[in-house]
Amino acid sequence: MSTDATTLDIDTGATAVAHPNMALIKYWGKRDRDLILPVTGSLSMTLDIFPTTTHVRVGEQEADTIALDGRPADEVTTRRVTGFLRLVRDITGRHEAAAVDSVNSVPTGAGLASSASGFAALAAAACAAYDHSLTPRELSRLARRGSGSACRSVFGDFVVWHPGGSRPPRDDLGSYAEPVPAGDFDPAMVIAIVDGGGKAVSSRKAMQHTVETSPFYLPWAAGIAADLERMRAAIGRGDLQEVGRIAEHNALSMHATMLAARPAVRYLQAGTLRVLDAVAALRTGGIDAYATIDAGPNVAVLCDPRDEIRVARAVSELPDVSATHIAHRGPGTTVTAGAAA
Ligand code: DP6
Repeated sequence: MSTDATTLDIDTGATAVAHPNMALIKYWGKRDRDLILPVTGSLSMTLDIFPTTTHVRVGEQEADTIALDGRPADEVTTRRVTGFLRLVRDITGRHEAAAVDSVNSVPTGAGLASSASGFAALAAAACAAYDHSLTPRELSRLARRGSGSACRSVFGDFVVWHPGGSRPPRDDLGSYAEPVPAGDFDPAMVIAIVDGGGKAVSSRKAMQHTVETSPFYLPWAAGIAADLERMRAAIGRGDLQEVGRIAEHNALSMHATMLAARPAVRYLQAGTLRVLDAVAALRTGGIDAYATIDAGPNVAVLCDPRDEIRVARAVSELPDVSATHIAHRGPGTTVTAGAAA
């Protein structure tokens, strides 16, 4: 038998890279928790910072193993990832267990850990490792089953996630993400870290609780379709003011739905409000800066890239802000090495 490495059939698995995304119109609320079908559409910007790199190898062991940043994943994450791998095996018709090795480039304590980049990279790497090719739309539908917002990280730049129809099979088949034409609209996003610690309540639990108990939830959801149309048009013509105004209103009103839940879910901290004050002061000073806030206390400030240093300086001067990161529009998910590369 030859020992020449080039003639050996070595399964090296597959590696994929995905970036986080920041929603300008948020996904907040599911109508099907198993299929992860959202109540409303949403729209995001994929970022060019903090990618997740995930390597998947198959067929070398009895059971799935999951490592995050070089350490075995905790029980909750392991359960969620192995559930997702079972789904991938159902789709691909394969049976072998997988070894998942995922590395996030988010600095520790940045408060930006993202299930979106995680499940987008895992979906792409796992399909490639099982030698199964999907269209980008199919990959987006698969990533959605891991974490809703992950379906948007399959694509770069500006991305819309369609909620899908109301009845099978159009609900699942129709709920995918796709790029939004943006021309050369290329804003900056300055992320102000107010608290880098973990969340007290996961966004998954908080959104369900909001849907079930907040009297503000349905009115919020009812306004989304019209805002999505206005947002797509504003992105298409590169209208930063309109994009920013819609995004800020969408985020603050989403937090209002949580504050009206019983009991309230409050991610906003005193420091968060002081960043909002600083953003308003920038606007008063003639700078186009607009805030958006996910399910946490940190604030992302959308602005013209020519103003990004000034905006970053203004927010980093606040004692509540421990770090700032500047992002721009980033790439979609890529398989960088392995079976389907
Ligand atoms: C506030 O996608 O993390 O960031 O589908 O339950 O995994 P699951 O939720 P997830 O929720 C993201 C919520 C958000 C808004 C958004 O990204 O659109």
